Amino acid sequence: MSFSILAAGAAHGGGTPAWAMLAYLVSGVFFILALRGLSSPATSQAGNRNGMIGMGIALITTLVTHDLANIFEIAAALAIGGVIGVVIARRIAMTAMPELVAGFHSLVGLAAVVVGFGAWLDPQSFGIVDGAGQILAVSRIELGLGIAIGAITFSGSVIAFLKLSGRMSGSPIMLPGRHVINLGTLAAILGLIALYTISPQGGAGEGWMVIAIAILAFIIGFLLIIPIGGADMPVVVSMLNSYSGWAAAAMGFTLGNSAMIITGALVGSSGAILSYIMCRAMNRSFISVIAGGFGADAGAGGGGGGAREQRPYKQGSAEDAAYMLEQAEKVIIIPGYGMAVAQAQHALREMGDKLKEKGVEVKYAIHPVAGRMPGHMNVLLAEASVPYDEVFELEDINSEFAQCDVAFIIGANDVVNPAAKTDKSSPIYGMPVFDVDKAKQVFFIKRSMGGVGYAGVDNDVFYMNQTVMLLADAKKMVEEIVKSLD
Ligand code: TAP
Repeated sequence: MSFSILAAGAAHGGGTPAWAMLAYLVSGVFFILALRGLSSPATSQAGNRNGMIGMGIALITTLVTHDLANIFEIAAALAIGGVIGVVIARRIAMTAMPELVAGFHSLVGLAAVVVGFGAWLDPQSFGIVDGAGQILAVSRIELGLGIAIGAITFSGSVIAFLKLSGRMSGSPIMLPGRHVINLGTLAAILGLIALYTISPQGGAGEGWMVIAIAILAFIIGFLLIIPIGGADMPVVVSMLNSYSGWAAAAMGFTLGNSAMIITGALVGSSGAILSYIMCRAMNRSFISVIAGGFGADAGAGGGGGGAREQRPYKQGSAEDAAYMLEQAEKVIIIPGYGMAVAQAQHALREMGDKLKEKGVEVKYAIHPVAGRMPGHMNVLLAEASVPYDEVFELEDINSEFAQCDVAFIIGANDVVNPAAKTDKSSPIYGMPVFDVDKAKQVFFIKRSMGGVGYAGVDNDVFYMNQTVMLLADAKKMVEEIVKSLD
C-alpha cells in the first residue's frame, strides 16, 4: 500500500487545489476503513475493497492534478505493474507469504530512496525551495530521514527475503562488536543529516553527504537484520513494514501530500503494533528481537534439530482416530504450520462437519503465532469455509481443554509444547501455549517423529499416556479419517 502511495504522491503538493486535498483526505479515510476491515476475517474482504478504492482515489487525484507523464506512459506502467502483481499473487503459496511481503517491502524502501533523490535533484518541481532557491531546512531533514529510513527498509527487507526464502541461512550471523558498529553507523547517519541540513545548497560535499547517508543506511539495514534468526523474521518483516510507513510519511511532508502522510502513519503505526503483538505472543521483548540472536541454537529457526533420546510413544491409525472422535462429546482442533504445508484445511472442515452431524461439539483453537504469519490459520480456515463462530483465540479457549474429550493437533507443534511453561532453558520458554495435556485424549498429526517445530525442540506431548501419534501427511490422514467416519 505504501509503495503505491509513494508513487501516487511522488509529485509536489505545492498549489494543490482544495478539491484534491479533500480527495486525498477521503482516500485516507478509506485506508482507515481498510485497516478496520482487515482486523477480522469476517470483514477482511470489505477491508481490501476499501483499500483499493482509497488507492484508486489517490492515484486518480495525483494523475489529474499533476503533469507527470503522458497518459500512455502511465497506462503502460500500470499495466506492467498490474500484470506482475496479479501473476505473483496467483502463484504464491500461502506459506511463502512472509517472504513475498518482505520482497515487496524492499520496493517500498527503494521507492522512498528514489523519491528522496528525485526531490534533492529537482527541488523546484517538488516545491521545497525558499525565495533564494535553496531547499528549505525542514525539507532537508525530511529528505535525509526519508532516504535513510527507505534505504534501511530496502536492504533489511532484502536480507529478510533471502532468509525467509531459504536463499540464505536462517541462522543469526553475529559480527564481533556489532552493537558498537551499529550505533556508530547510526550516529554517523544522524550526524550527516544534521550537517546536510545546515550546509549551503550546491556547497562543497553536499552531494556526497546525501549519497553517504544512503550508502550508510543501506549498510546499517543489512547489519541490523543479519544477526536476527529465522524464528524472529516475521516480527522483523512487520517492523520493516512499520519503517516503510514512516519513510512514506516523511516523504509525504516533503511533498506536501496529506494522503502520503496519513497512509505512512497508518502503515507505520499498524506495523509497530503488529510487531508488538507478535513479540507478546512469543513472550519475547521487542528489544531482544532487534538485538538479534534468537535461533542460534542448533535446529532453531525451522532447522533440523539435534540428536534426541528415543522415548516410547503410541502410534495410531485413521480408523482409531475416527472411532475416538465420533465417541467424543467435545473436540478441540489445533491447527498449525503443518496444516498449511499439507493444505489440509478443506479435508479438516469436512471432518468437522461429519463430527457435528454425529452430535459432536467441534471448536477450532488458534494460537496467535501458529503457522508462519499473523492470521495464517484464520485465513486458511476461512478459505475452507469454517464458520467464524467455531474459531477461538488462545485466551478464550485454553480453559476448555480440561473439559474436552479430544484435542486434535494437526500440524501444530511449538504452540502446544509444555516446555514453554516448564523448561527455562527452552528457546520457547514463556510463550503462552495450549494446555492440550489437560485433554482426556490427544491425537497428534505430523509426518515423522524426527521432524521438529519451528523452534527445533522436542515435545513432551508426543510421549504422554493419552497421546496417539498419527504419523502421516496431514491432508492424507484427515481424508482417511473422513472416509472412516462415513
Ligand atoms: P511448528 O512448531 O512450526 O510445527 C510444525 C509441525 O508441522 C511440525 O510438527 C511438523 O512435523 C508438522 N508438519 C509439517 N509439514 C507437515 C505435513 N505436510 N503434514 C503433517 N504435519 C506436518 O508449527 P506451529 O505450532 O504452528 O508453531 C509456529 C512456530 O512458528 C512457532 O514457534 C512460532 O513462534 C513461529 N513463528 C510464527 C510466527 C507467526 S506470526 N505465525 C512468526 C514467527 C515465528 P513433521 O516435519 O514431522 O511433519
